[in-house]
Amino acid sequence: MRIYHLSAECYPIAKVGGLADVVGALPKYQNQAGLNAAVVIPYYNRKFVHENTFEVVFQGLTLLGDRRIYFEIVKETTDKLGFELFMIKVPGLLDRENIYSYPDEREQFLAFQICFLDWINWSGQTPDVVHCHDHHTGLVPFLMYHSALYRRLAHIPTVFTIHNGQYHGAFGWEKLNYLPEIDALKTGLLEWAGGINPLACAVKCCWKYTTVSPNYLHELTINSNGLEYLFWVERAKGVGIVNGIDTDVWNTESDPMVLNHFNTSSVDKGKKANKKELCDRFNLDINKPLVVFIGRLVVEKGADLLPEAIERSIRQHPNGINFLILGTGDKETELAMQALKGEFPQNCNVFIGYDEALAHVIYAGADFLLMPSRVEPCGLNQLYAIRYGTIPVVRTTGGLKDTVIDLDEAGGYGIRFENATADDITYSMARAVELYQDTKKMQLLRKRMMGLDFSWGRSAQEYINLYNSLIPQP
Ligand code: GLC
Repeated sequence: MRIYHLSAECYPIAKVGGLADVVGALPKYQNQAGLNAAVVIPYYNRKFVHENTFEVVFQGLTLLGDRRIYFEIVKETTDKLGFELFMIKVPGLLDRENIYSYPDEREQFLAFQICFLDWINWSGQTPDVVHCHDHHTGLVPFLMYHSALYRRLAHIPTVFTIHNGQYHGAFGWEKLNYLPEIDALKTGLLEWAGGINPLACAVKCCWKYTTVSPNYLHELTINSNGLEYLFWVERAKGVGIVNGIDTDVWNTESDPMVLNHFNTSSVDKGKKANKKELCDRFNLDINKPLVVFIGRLVVEKGADLLPEAIERSIRQHPNGINFLILGTGDKETELAMQALKGEFPQNCNVFIGYDEALAHVIYAGADFLLMPSRVEPCGLNQLYAIRYGTIPVVRTTGGLKDTVIDLDEAGGYGIRFENATADDITYSMARAVELYQDTKKMQLLRKRMMGLDFSWGRSAQEYINLYNSLIPQP
């Protein structure tokens, strides 16, 4: 079964968030299960591309509005990723260093989608399923089914996965002319709330859409930035499949970024050695519970609540809690965190930036991972934490609800709270401090977590079952 995954991000080539982790892992596990899954992303002028070799497998000429576009499909040649990787290169448009935030971002992703379709169409390919991820690829199902240009592709099933329903990629009708010839009677499918809305369009046109956790499927009908009604109407097409993690990358026994390797039986010793290294580096006392936050410092992740919650927790437990923050995002939160570090140098440290290697070291050394997300479609960080014996402290939302059981419940291992408020976080921090003092219980929970299986095996199979349900069986 030939599958094309289409995405703006893919680890380790280009990562901003969890989308990259999923697209860089799911196809590998699908291939191990006997599929022939490949990934297609825009061409990025960055490290992975400079350090690896590629061959041009297709060259084409297409139109983006009035603009003639020359494009190349380049393929990575070493096969070390566990899936075929194709990148679409358009000189001056899809050959940049960063992934997002260019003023012509809409044109970039439109060109990406059109070039992909031109390529598979003109090279005579007929994949069994085209699997699109997030709004950057949301117009592909529409174009496959409602453009005369791609009539040859109109019978191919499309699956659309929503990693984040808050972003729609909407733009105005003045850019309609960028689309290739489309069926005029179908333009309504592009529309939501007066504009062209790629996320809404994908949900309307795809054969099946998936969310990255079952709970998030339900939440989209309540909170999706204006698309609630659409998700309610289309709910029969939705399937929730929780993400897994790549256990080749996230492995406490072999992680090259972690100095002291450990497994379930050596977790206490191993974590202590890693915590020491981490605390030495960030000037923190190894004897206090270490609570970390890793991620974008944005409102969606509840990062704006951190400064107040951290300050209150430190004041409540003057000798009993330390914090380490790794992330970048809203300037106000970054500054507030820096100020806290200045005020409580013994209890709080901050690393403003994105550093994948440091993230691994932090998961390996921390005691608690805090995720006060307002929106969390799945969340991978809590899964990395669980795998690395770090207790997740999470808000009960989205995939966090599906993957973290409170320690007061049967088989539980984490701390959950209901509201995205400094009050709830501070209260949870008090629970964390109390738990930390109970060494035996900490040990038990660590072992319990490390024995859980959140690897891709099961979820990859759920996607395969979904594809099978769409493909006519012989
Ligand atoms: C997005 C979501 C996150 C999810 C990830 C991968 O980054 O915010 O919750 O885990 O995509 O699906």
